[in-house]
Amino acid sequence: MKDFVFQMPRKIEVGFSKSRNLSKIIKQMKLNKVLILVDYNLKKLGIVDYIFNNLKEENISFTVFDNIKNEPTITEIDQAINDLNIASNYDGIIAIGGGSTIDMAKLLAISGSIEGSVRNYIGTNLIDKPGIPLIILPTTSGTGAEVTPNAIVKDKKKEWKKGIVSPYLIPDLLILDPELTFSVPPKITAETGIDAFTHAIECFICKKSNPMSDLFALDSMKLINKYLRRAVRNGGDKEARYYLALASLYGGIAITNSGTGGVHGLAYPLGGKYNISHGLSNSILLAEVMEFNAKAVPEKFIKVADVMEIETTNFTKEKIVKSVVDEIRKLVNDVGITIEGFEVSEKVLDNLATLAISEQQRLLKNNPRPISYEDARQIYKNVLLN
Ligand SMILES: [Fe+2]
Repeated sequence: MKDFVFQMPRKIEVGFSKSRNLSKIIKQMKLNKVLILVDYNLKKLGIVDYIFNNLKEENISFTVFDNIKNEPTITEIDQAINDLNIASNYDGIIAIGGGSTIDMAKLLAISGSIEGSVRNYIGTNLIDKPGIPLIILPTTSGTGAEVTPNAIVKDKKKEWKKGIVSPYLIPDLLILDPELTFSVPPKITAETGIDAFTHAIECFICKKSNPMSDLFALDSMKLINKYLRRAVRNGGDKEARYYLALASLYGGIAITNSGTGGVHGLAYPLGGKYNISHGLSNSILLAEVMEFNAKAVPEKFIKVADVMEIETTNFTKEKIVKSVVDEIRKLVNDVGITIEGFEVSEKVLDNLATLAISEQQRLLKNNPRPISYEDARQIYKNVLLN
């Protein structure tokens, strides 16, 4: 029986067309001048023009910032903070986009509460006061960024990604409108969906898991296993998009309250090295790290088998655990994720393992089974060379 603290956004609005109510929400929150961050491609394709038109019709004063093309580097974030001078010019921030846009918005919202580079705040609980109100409208389902206290930053030169973690990064309001996810292409739907599954399973088996985050984690896995293949096949499948949006939310709530582990800890160096998305990095490692973890927490894997609806009648414990790992591998495969085409050498494996062990202890310490340098190297070798 554990003691635990549970955190989540103060308010979450879920439903189709909720994004059309944004002007009403801004007025209710008494915001006078808002900065809207939007994914570069969404803006270019005009997918969220209806939101901007609606705000103009309602005479809401806003500025759009769309210079977000990839996972933000520390230099890009510092530059944006410097250029936009948030504390003097805005009283609210809105993010419309995927994980990168959301993370950038979180850091801009607290930019008046920090001094110097965001680099100084990498780690946990280093920000000591709240920022301005933050509203998030996620356009992908999976990152969980819409509810977590984390912002991931990247240092291109050093080839790593790390987290800034603070309760002040949790948004004030989450607007979850599955309509915004209809245009997400199959590849991104697949990668972000597996990212969400990774959040859920890592939270469920990790050392900091607790009975309340377990509820969200288990239901998240169940929904992703049931609906991800459908959403990848048909992006306009309303039911699949709705439940995947919820699954992402549940995974994000689970991360907020119990944290991730070995998959994420090993995925950050991999993503930095090969410049691949966070979701893809996790997808590559997920089944292998779960196979590694299984012997530490077999009872938990039996519960995962249940939510994944794996037929286990007359199976031994070992066979159930193996079936879960096989089923996860199958899910990753079914949604079209492949792990070929990486140039790998012994030196690359050394570097990846060194980076994971030296830079990702926050996550690795939460893994249910300790991961040594040799373990990390072997896992990278198994996924990249086999
Ligand atoms: Fe993740």
